[in-house]
Order: sequence, then C-alpha cells, then structure tokens
Amino acid sequence: MTEIRSMQLQNVAVFGASGTIGAALIRELADRHPLANIHGISREPVVSESLPPKVKLHELDYADSDKIKVFSEGFFQQYGSLDLIVIATGVLSAISKNPEKSVEHITESELLENFRINTVIPTLIFKHCFTLLSNAPTPTFAVLSARIGSISDNRLGGWYAYRMSKAALNMFIKTASHELRRKNKHSVVVGLHPGTVKTKFSERFIKNTTKNCFTPETAAQQLVNVIGNLTPPKSGRLFAWDETEILP
Ligand SMILES: NC(=O)c1ccc[n+]([C@@H]2O[C@H](COP(=O)([O-])OP(=O)(O)OC[C@H]3O[C@@H](n4cnc5c(N)ncnc54)[C@H](OP(=O)(O)O)[C@@H]3O)[C@@H](O)[C@H]2O)c1
Repeated sequence: MTEIRSMQLQNVAVFGASGTIGAALIRELADRHPLANIHGISREPVVSESLPPKVKLHELDYADSDKIKVFSEGFFQQYGSLDLIVIATGVLSAISKNPEKSVEHITESELLENFRINTVIPTLIFKHCFTLLSNAPTPTFAVLSARIGSISDNRLGGWYAYRMSKAALNMFIKTASHELRRKNKHSVVVGLHPGTVKTKFSERFIKNTTKNCFTPETAAQQLVNVIGNLTPPKSGRLFAWDETEILP
C-alpha cells in the first residue's frame, strides 16, 4: 500500500488461502504489514507451516451463502471492519480436464460451475462483507480476474467458460464499485490480473514460454505493489501486475 493507506491497514482477509497465489499474497502482506491482523480463509484447513504463524486461518465453505453470512457476522462482532479483502479463489476449468478449445467441448455443467466459482462466489463474499468494508476508513476489495476474461483482449477465442465467467466478474467489479462508493467515498473495488503465474494448473499451458511467467512470490509482490497504489479514482477498473489498465 502507499504510505498513507498502509498505516491504516488493521484487518486484512485473503479468500483462497490454500491457493498458490492466495498463500503467496498472505505471506507478502504479513511481511509488509507486521501490525495488521492477516486472515487467511479457505474451504479446507490450510497447511499452516507454509504461512507465517501470526496469520489467523479460517475454514469456510464458500459454496454456502449462509455460511459466508455467519462468518462475516462473527467477524463483525470481533473486528468491526475489514480494510482489505483479496479474493484469490478461481478456477480455469471446474469440471472438465481442460478449458474448451472449440464448441464441441462446451458443456452446460462446466459453464455453470465455472460461473459459480469465478463469478458468484466473489459476488456473495462482497455482499456479506459489505458492512465490514463500509466501516473501514479506506476499504479495498480486490479480486483476481484475468486478462483473457476481457472482451478487449479476446483475439483467439476458446476457453469459453473461463473467459465468460471472468468477463462477468469484471462487470460485478464495476457495479460493486458504484455501490461501495456511495457508502464510503474512499473505497476501491478492482480486478487484478496477476500475469501468468507458475501453478499446478498453469504449468501445462506455459511450458513453451518463459516470457512474463512469474513465481508465486514475485506475483504476490507485484500484486501488493498494485494494491498499494490504488486510489478511489481507480475503483471499478481492472489492472495488471505492472499497474497497466486492462479495458474490460
Ligand atoms: N495462475 C495464473 O497464471 C493465473 C493467471 C490469471 C489469473 N489467475 C487467477 O488467479 C486466481 C488464483 O489462481 P491460482 O493460480 O492461485 O489458482 P489455485 O492455486 O488453483 O488456487 C485457486 C483457489 O481457488 C479456490 N477454489 C478452487 N476450487 C474451488 C471450488 N470448487 N470452489 C470454491 N473455491 C475454489 C481454492 O481456494 P481454497 O481451497 O483456499 O478455499 C483455491 O485455493 C484465480 O482466480 C485465477 O483465475 C491465475
């Protein structure tokens, strides 16, 4: 965060704490903000050895909207507000082995499940954490999106479910930014493109290129830099790892 915003960070929540980028983000945020309460949230108990001991781990089944509600109400009782929420959940393909190369690979089940995970879950987390965010002095809600989910970037086609669910996520980000701004004019809601990051699922797609392919640690450093430079005029927009704006 910039000097001013970083000093105001008290409570931070990263959803998707067991993920490659989510875990790296937690480590980076804990490093840079030693005084903040860093909360890692995951569907399953996270392997805590990979995370700094000060990080508070929470188990939460995002599939159940009521459970997110109960979680946020408990959080409200204990902490009152959240200065920064990062949503690091998401899947390339939810059910199918690979993303669709062409129309014959499209299935209803993949479209629906991909949309549920990539678009619906972040939207429900925003809904239930809205009061926590509104109460913070300079709240930030940052969601990992993807460049290839932007209509402006679609030159090759394919990967239907992923592209569509992330494009819809980008619309959610814009819509959410308006509503949170009305509650708190210092707020920021953004989508972030981490770049291509070496993870279990990306390995098979990136083996032929070394260009702009980041380790999770580098990706996390870059993303935390981008988050640190966010200001309210940037709300509702999508930014890449190098702070360049991506048109939705
Ligand atoms: N890796 C890349 O090159 C790349 C590029 C562009 C964008 N991104 C975006 O960055 C985000 C994180 O990606 P990653 O590479 O860190 O992936 P990852 O290691 O597979 O982690 C993704 C996280 O998503 C959550 N998740 C997985 N399946 C889910 C399900 N069925 N229901 C609910 N949550 C589920 C899990 O969170 P918990 O198990 O902790 O709950 C998991 O840890 C994604 O949104 C992805 O689209 C990644």
